Amino acid sequence: HNYKYYVLANPTITDYQFDMLLKELEQLEQQFPEFDDPNSPTKKVGGSITKTFTHYTHSKPMLSLSNAYSMGEIRAFDERIKRSINSTYSYVCELKFDGVAIALHYEKGALIRGVTRGDGIGGDVVTENIRTIRSLPLKLRGTDHPEYFEIRGEVVMPVDAFQAFNEKRILNNEQPFANPRNATAGSLKLQESSTVAKRPLDCLLYAVVTEEPGFTSHYESMQHAKKWGFKVHESIKRCSTIENVIAFINDWEIKRATLPFDTDGVVVKIDDFSLQSALGNTSKSPRWAIAYKYPAEKAITRLLSVDYQVGRTGSVTPVANLSPVTLAGTVVKRASLHNEDIMKKLDLRINDSVYVEKGGEIIPKITGVELSLRPANSKPIPFITKCSECNTELLKDPDKANHYCPNEACPPRIKGAIEHFISRKAMDIRSLGEGKVELLFDKGIISNVADLYSIAYHDIINLEKAYSSPDGSKIRVVKLKEKSVNNILDGIEQSKQRPFEAVLFALGIRHVGETTAKILAMHFKSIDNIIHASTETLTAVSEIGEVIAQSIIAFFADEQYMQIVNRLRNAGLNFEKKMEEEQPETKPLLDMTIVVSGTFVNFSREEIQSTIERLGGKNVSSISKNTTYLVAGNKTGPAKMEKAKTLGVPIISEDQFIKIINDAT
Ligand code: IVH
Repeated sequence: HNYKYYVLANPTITDYQFDMLLKELEQLEQQFPEFDDPNSPTKKVGGSITKTFTHYTHSKPMLSLSNAYSMGEIRAFDERIKRSINSTYSYVCELKFDGVAIALHYEKGALIRGVTRGDGIGGDVVTENIRTIRSLPLKLRGTDHPEYFEIRGEVVMPVDAFQAFNEKRILNNEQPFANPRNATAGSLKLQESSTVAKRPLDCLLYAVVTEEPGFTSHYESMQHAKKWGFKVHESIKRCSTIENVIAFINDWEIKRATLPFDTDGVVVKIDDFSLQSALGNTSKSPRWAIAYKYPAEKAITRLLSVDYQVGRTGSVTPVANLSPVTLAGTVVKRASLHNEDIMKKLDLRINDSVYVEKGGEIIPKITGVELSLRPANSKPIPFITKCSECNTELLKDPDKANHYCPNEACPPRIKGAIEHFISRKAMDIRSLGEGKVELLFDKGIISNVADLYSIAYHDIINLEKAYSSPDGSKIRVVKLKEKSVNNILDGIEQSKQRPFEAVLFALGIRHVGETTAKILAMHFKSIDNIIHASTETLTAVSEIGEVIAQSIIAFFADEQYMQIVNRLRNAGLNFEKKMEEEQPETKPLLDMTIVVSGTFVNFSREEIQSTIERLGGKNVSSISKNTTYLVAGNKTGPAKMEKAKTLGVPIISEDQFIKIINDAT
């Protein structure tokens, strides 16, 4: 679970369950010291290091916190403190933000480095990604900060922004993230900082680490940090007694639902720095601090029925319909049951009183049944054997948890195919995003991709339908008014200009991804040549293997697919590689070797590279003395720039590149 959480950023149990398992292990190790193991997860702070970023060893380990799950444990913590300190002391209470820990290094008032927590001893240098976080000061305000210091905090994604971000991912056929924390972790690991910049990240700070503080307490340090321009959450509070600490925890248990970010608890810290050092640390966590974790929000309600949802890939998920209940501020009517094994393990029955929990996930989970309330004579719920959408017999791979519907004509699978067809790298009909495909499909306007090209204005104007969110808490109405209808029709019309390789990719032939589609288009030039190609001719192309070849042949042997292809052809889509695409009148970049690096304003890097190729030039990735130009965009690596200068390779901007081409063509 450590690996899933820290390395894959994809946990399969809730934090609460994890904490409980670890706690149990800790206790077992104390009870049976003969099984103590230096490699036990209790000895680690968790995590391992991703190779692609530079590794950096922290000046002081980034420890974790010991956890408390009850006020009794908070009081016991205070008792321990009292026994160790013979002076008065006070606490600082802070919210525990649920994101990704980061250490930021500042020198002479400027950010010089951002390092992830990694395994606690050292992490990855992600400075360029961190720089893109809007709320983070790259230069500090004022002058009263130490010459060199480190500040630690939590990178988070606000919940609303996370939801909007996830909806976009779904529309682009990308896997949504399970919760804001995973989305944040995934973002910090991205290699392109420009992509990170588009992610709605925020950063809240909670510790200043320095040799020359100029202040004596944590609370003071945070007030200074605020003045230097850091985001320190306003909830931070000094508490002189443990009763005040408990009041803070109780107060925020309800109020935290109104915050823009996820919080999973409260961190209680001894305020005075000298008392903190007197108390010291264990190998894992400071003795001067503790994290109170709020219980996962739980409710009890009745199971009314079970629906089976078929996904875009055919995968079947059981979903519980519940008697509406309020949980974490929203009314929940549905909960995921994941798969048959989980249903069996819960031994669910209709009309059972079930416990529903909301972890960080979008859809709540059923975590247990209250057996004392079980109605007499209830029977286990059998898992369906036929698809709930098309009645086809379901199948199950022995090594996978989910059943799936093998019927390619099953409605959700068709919707999936249409969504792929309109996606950016395929037909790029953006105006059909945001649930509009679903609306057109559900209203019977389209039942395959070819139908898109016969849509008329009067077919779809004022079309509307209400959709409910996955947990059943919100209803969204999708309605097509004049402007969106025109946009849709324009988008469909423009898609007829998409090149042959994009059309080929859009068809959704199994195993024919973007690159394979390009290769096929280049070699075969037209759809007819591909339709008539034999296995031998296909596999003669070096990148095409037996599996891809068989899949292509099976696709075009299918009567129904051929009908669609023919309708698309009649609609005017590009089913041939255009001559002018291949052979421009002039090839002004012939014999030139060009390196393109960085991000650009008017074009994507790929667009610039394909222009170079179209005009006869050669793209290469590394600079040598034979390089004709380095086209340098924003954020071109300093090493590349240096090398170009040393070898005397001309460095040109995007504008200069465009000018060279325009002058030559
Ligand atoms: S103090 C030595 N304060 O919780 C203690 N941590 O389990 C350093 N966290 O990795 C942590 N909010 O990422 C502290 N207000 C807060 C926090 C906080 C969230 C995270 C932090 C740390 C984890 C500890």
